Amino acid sequence: MARTFFVGGNFKLNGTKSSIKEIVERLNNAKLDPKVEVVLCPPAPYLDYTVSLVKKSQVSVGAQNAYLKASGAFTGENSVDQIKDVGAKWVILGHSERRQYFREDDQLIAEKTAFALSQGVGVILCIGETLDQKKAGTTLQVVERKLQDVIDKVKDWSNVVIAYEPVWAIGTGLAATPEDAQEIHHSIREFLAKKLGEKTAQETRILYGGSANGKNAVTFKDKPDVDGFLVGGASLKPEFVDIINSRS
Ligand code: PGA
Repeated sequence: MARTFFVGGNFKLNGTKSSIKEIVERLNNAKLDPKVEVVLCPPAPYLDYTVSLVKKSQVSVGAQNAYLKASGAFTGENSVDQIKDVGAKWVILGHSERRQYFREDDQLIAEKTAFALSQGVGVILCIGETLDQKKAGTTLQVVERKLQDVIDKVKDWSNVVIAYEPVWAIGTGLAATPEDAQEIHHSIREFLAKKLGEKTAQETRILYGGSANGKNAVTFKDKPDVDGFLVGGASLKPEFVDIINSRS
């Protein structure tokens, strides 16, 4: 089964109404490879606005975080029900910036993932190793442990996209090589096969994230286990279109 190429744009804590309008209109007017699924993840205050601007059916909108309850006394959190209510379809969970600055741990991320999926919101689940973990040669153990916590709670992975994002590559300009990414993505797929069966492993998309840009995206083109990108900085720029079109 061919996996639909997936490109997510993680705007992080950036953007204004005017800059987001510019980004979405650029995508509305660009010639995008029609076989690519695109998900724009603006800051929560702009979710509704972003949904209202999108004109292409291949482009949808996602949040950058969501809590494990749909409503209640949880000041400052995002609700998956509200994300759905404004027409967004996805949420990024487990991003290393959430783990690092907001002390989210593997357990919480697994619980949030299970809850979002149970409410019908797709999850872009981020996993990746730090530089120290890479140097210690523990990359696979680290990503497998993060996945295992989610596997313990989630049996249906049809609405999950995994983003392999080495922490040392995020925002540094230093992307993983296509060869290294392919090797790790392949191992992640083998792990999924072992834990969840061959069908789920073959159907689950595994994105690469970490300094992906308009120039290097194309160098991943012949890597069979790289099913797209999760893009931070470059998703705010015109080169985002080149990343979306990097397979065509
Ligand atoms: P970057 O961020 O593309 O700016 O490195 C990727 C991410 O954090 O998802």
